[in-house]
Amino acid sequence: MLLNKKEQLMLEGKEGKAVKKAMEILVALGKIYSAKRMIRITSAQISGVSYKNLGDEGIDFLKEFLRDIKVKVLTTLNPAGMDLKNWKEFFVPKKFAKKQLKIIKIFENAGIETSCSCVPYLIGNVPKFQEHISWSESSAVIYANSVLGARTNRESGISALCAAITGSTPEYGYHLDKNRKANFLIDVSKVKLKRESDFSALGYLIGKKIQQGVPYLKGIEKRDATLENLKLLGAAMAASGGIALYHIEGITPEAKKFGNKIFSKKIEKVKIESLDEGYKNLNFNSDTKKVDLVSIGCPHASLQELEKISKLLEGKKLKSELWISTSRSIKKIAEKKILLRKIENSGAKVIADTCIIVSPIEKLRFKTMATNSGKMAFYAPSYCNLKVKFGPLEKCIDVAINGVWKS
Ligand code: F3S
Repeated sequence: MLLNKKEQLMLEGKEGKAVKKAMEILVALGKIYSAKRMIRITSAQISGVSYKNLGDEGIDFLKEFLRDIKVKVLTTLNPAGMDLKNWKEFFVPKKFAKKQLKIIKIFENAGIETSCSCVPYLIGNVPKFQEHISWSESSAVIYANSVLGARTNRESGISALCAAITGSTPEYGYHLDKNRKANFLIDVSKVKLKRESDFSALGYLIGKKIQQGVPYLKGIEKRDATLENLKLLGAAMAASGGIALYHIEGITPEAKKFGNKIFSKKIEKVKIESLDEGYKNLNFNSDTKKVDLVSIGCPHASLQELEKISKLLEGKKLKSELWISTSRSIKKIAEKKILLRKIENSGAKVIADTCIIVSPIEKLRFKTMATNSGKMAFYAPSYCNLKVKFGPLEKCIDVAINGVWKS
């Protein structure tokens, strides 16, 4: 691999042990994937922040690795294992909270923004078209690649951290034009795509069907391709398959700019005509109608989603717990707009900095959950030992009000 003088000096240890180690890891990665050189990145986003994933060994590693280190580019964190301020309200064990706060402090000392969100693109970490970045949250990776036209591989927490420390990443995979071409042409023109859960179910079906590759979707109306719908579509696709980039005809930036030139020479045609299998599979383990917890905000809710939820909750009181996950900064804006009070008046809770999947939820009393997110429905049974009901937002809110899932 060709390294410039600065990169070579980092590799030789002229900037200290941690920078040397980070560069060694990136160069090794580059060699595995036959990268020819390193490229500068403008931002990094790091997953694997929760104490649930890291454990004590992870804390020891981070403490040592990030000692006296400052990251070189704008770097943000994925959700932690708890709301960093109101963790007691969400029944998080004290021992867990102490360890989680320690992890956050280590990242903070390294100059990393502890915004703890899976939607960095809604809160200030917004890469431009064709900008190279190193992100690791799969739903954020697919959003950045597809909707913003930025360029990142689906990094691990550690490779994104190394990129943050050196300010660079090896040039391979989705950083190169040739790998961003579509090799699946997916016709969805017969599918009714109206509600956000329809986009989740569609994403789940595409991921399950093609597993790897770059799908080009045909048949999505511009008016339906809202930020929120695309956020849910990509998150589900990246959960049921290893997909990190999609294009939508006439909508996503590369499809608009390059038209048919974005097709690979060999392109497989796939038709999806119904979402029934998606809805059925995402409800696969739920044999009960009683729902203990309703979870909205996977990926983290936007302000528009909070506005919609507050309208649905107006004048209502809840029978089930309703937790809405969002970023700390969106929660603050909601507070200023009195949206937060309107939501909380019903008994619902807006939870910041975290995600149910990486929280110690399995230690709490919940057995069944309802959600409008395909990604949440896909992971919650295995990661959180929960039975899951999946459906549209309106239905999930109705469940929180009535405590039961009506078929
Ligand atoms: Fe975000 Fe957690 Fe969903 S990281 S995308 S809320 S599984």
